[in-house]
Amino acid sequence: MPYSYQVRSSEQYQEAYKKSVVDPEGFWAAVAENFYWHKKWDKVLDWNFTEPKIEWFSGARLNITENCIDRHLATMADQPAIIWEPNNPDERTRTVTYASLHKRVCQFAQVLKNNGVKKGDRVCIYMGMVPELAYAILGCARIGAVHSVIFGGFSAQSIADRLEDAKAEFIVTCDGAYRGGKDIPLKSVIDDALIGNKTVKRVIVYTRTRTPVSMIKGRDVWWEDEMEFAETQIEKDGVVSFPAEEMDAEDPLFILYTSGSTGKPKGVVHSVAGYMVWANYTFVNVFQYRQGQIHFCTADIGWITGHSYIVYGPLSAGATSLMFEGVPTYPDAGRFWDIVDKHKVNILYTAPTAIRSLMGFGTAPLAGKDLSSLQILGTVGEPINEEAWHWYDENVGKKKCPVVDTWWQTETGGILISNLAGVTPSKPTYATLPLPGVQPVLVDENGAIIEGNNVSGNLCIKFPWPGILRTTYGDHERCRLNYFSTYKNLYFTGDGCLRDEAGNYRITGRVDDVLNVSGHRIGTAEVENAINMHTGVVESAVVGYPHDIKGQGIYAYVIYNGHHEDESLRRADIAQTVARVIGAIAKPDKIQFVTGLPKTRSGKIMRRILRKIAEGETANLGDTTTLLDPGVVEEIKNGKL
Ligand code: WTA
Repeated sequence: MPYSYQVRSSEQYQEAYKKSVVDPEGFWAAVAENFYWHKKWDKVLDWNFTEPKIEWFSGARLNITENCIDRHLATMADQPAIIWEPNNPDERTRTVTYASLHKRVCQFAQVLKNNGVKKGDRVCIYMGMVPELAYAILGCARIGAVHSVIFGGFSAQSIADRLEDAKAEFIVTCDGAYRGGKDIPLKSVIDDALIGNKTVKRVIVYTRTRTPVSMIKGRDVWWEDEMEFAETQIEKDGVVSFPAEEMDAEDPLFILYTSGSTGKPKGVVHSVAGYMVWANYTFVNVFQYRQGQIHFCTADIGWITGHSYIVYGPLSAGATSLMFEGVPTYPDAGRFWDIVDKHKVNILYTAPTAIRSLMGFGTAPLAGKDLSSLQILGTVGEPINEEAWHWYDENVGKKKCPVVDTWWQTETGGILISNLAGVTPSKPTYATLPLPGVQPVLVDENGAIIEGNNVSGNLCIKFPWPGILRTTYGDHERCRLNYFSTYKNLYFTGDGCLRDEAGNYRITGRVDDVLNVSGHRIGTAEVENAINMHTGVVESAVVGYPHDIKGQGIYAYVIYNGHHEDESLRRADIAQTVARVIGAIAKPDKIQFVTGLPKTRSGKIMRRILRKIAEGETANLGDTTTLLDPGVVEEIKNGKL
């Protein structure tokens, strides 16, 4: 498939960018012509950021799975859609061609139908990184059910909250998942999440680890049995079919929960057509995808990066997407390089935290690995430091692969700011330039737009792009308050940013109370709520601090009034509590016990001071005269871990 909308030179980028600003509707209509629609749109764009109301391609009818699978069958039926690399390198690799992906997705859509799932129903997916996870997602999309994937590191409590928020009646899970040296008992976590739940009617369980699981009659069914039965229904005379549900452009495709500055994660909702166009357009342009290339995105499908750049982006472009079950350091720190060598990977897309952790092992794990297939490298998820950028460029890319630093968010659906591989220049630590359709602005605290170059401020976007979130599930007002009310008529990203003399953007990190730990977004309020659930905890305050590998670590100040003198045991109990409430990913790295927190006279915790102390800055704490009890600061400084 030729990509008429792939920009191939700096000049073409300038041209495309200009057109996308001057005539956004014409620009995106031309891009959208490249997809398969049952009916084309009546109107390209209808929007305001006050409600907000954002509609792209309204009136159009389509199914995203026909764009990701069916339309490739005529020419690429035997091309691998997914190459799956297991956690254990001795286990067999699986290759799923577009023809077999089509069959499995049809089969699973039939399974969902047989189990009573209908268009619009929410299906929660809690699985490890196995191809069946992709079948589950695409099976939902095929029948028009709304998938809500939950990362395997979240606790039963987190799942229970999300099930309730999404009013989900169906779950797809695995008995367990392999990750490095661990077996994670997913079904058992689901069982805990379902204690007291009255809405979930069906749990479909795929066998991966053959961990013993409880199976409740009338509720739990095995994936394998269901698939076998469905096969007889979808296949007639060797022809496989399951009619794709005709969706409205603005029907929801999925919900993905993400942390914000309040205690409760919000369900970001993306709709079918705009998300599809955006995931595809950004994949084809940022990575400069060429037919036949093998794309390896190391993210987990539990996060947005996996949704957009393992599943929907690559598959909609007819690419081969490599899906890896395990972790970069198992069985050793050469695993990524083994995979690149074994599968002749062309595009490698990973996170700065992974690069930093591998850097720590030096270059020995790279020795003897043939990385010559690599053509393009990418990073995502957090700011990349100069050292990691160069290490990646020199040791992995051997200085001949363009490195794309891609900035975006769960809410944006796909990449918004990035250089285009080999087409527009890179600049270490800079995401560089906005993609066509993206109009970034920097604003000061008062919301005034900061013009010119060599400036910094809060990053906002002033015009909708097709992949922007549409709402937060079940609570549109929350969406408005979170993203569209801080600055009038602007989408607020929550990120701080600077713009250099040439107009390149560099994202400097969150300006709200959200941490980015190993590329995972975690709200400080969420962690505080979890810590406060521990019986001995009176109050807590959580801030981030620079961490060599994770980017940011979690630093908790805790007022404790309970049993157990032994501080290390107390810390372990608190960490355990957080793991129970949120998941192991949110465990604090450091817990300092204090007798008071710096508060203003009105009772507000002055996090600025706590952040500075956690960062190791003790001399220049700024104005502390407004504190109720300035003495508490001394104590905290002296007790710093
Ligand atoms: C951060 C992940 C700097 C940023 C796709 C954003 C980045 C948050 C970059 C979104 C980057 C993501 N440079 N910071 N290239 N990419 N971020 O929703 O703070 O998990 O707001 O989406 O990650 O995280 P999320």
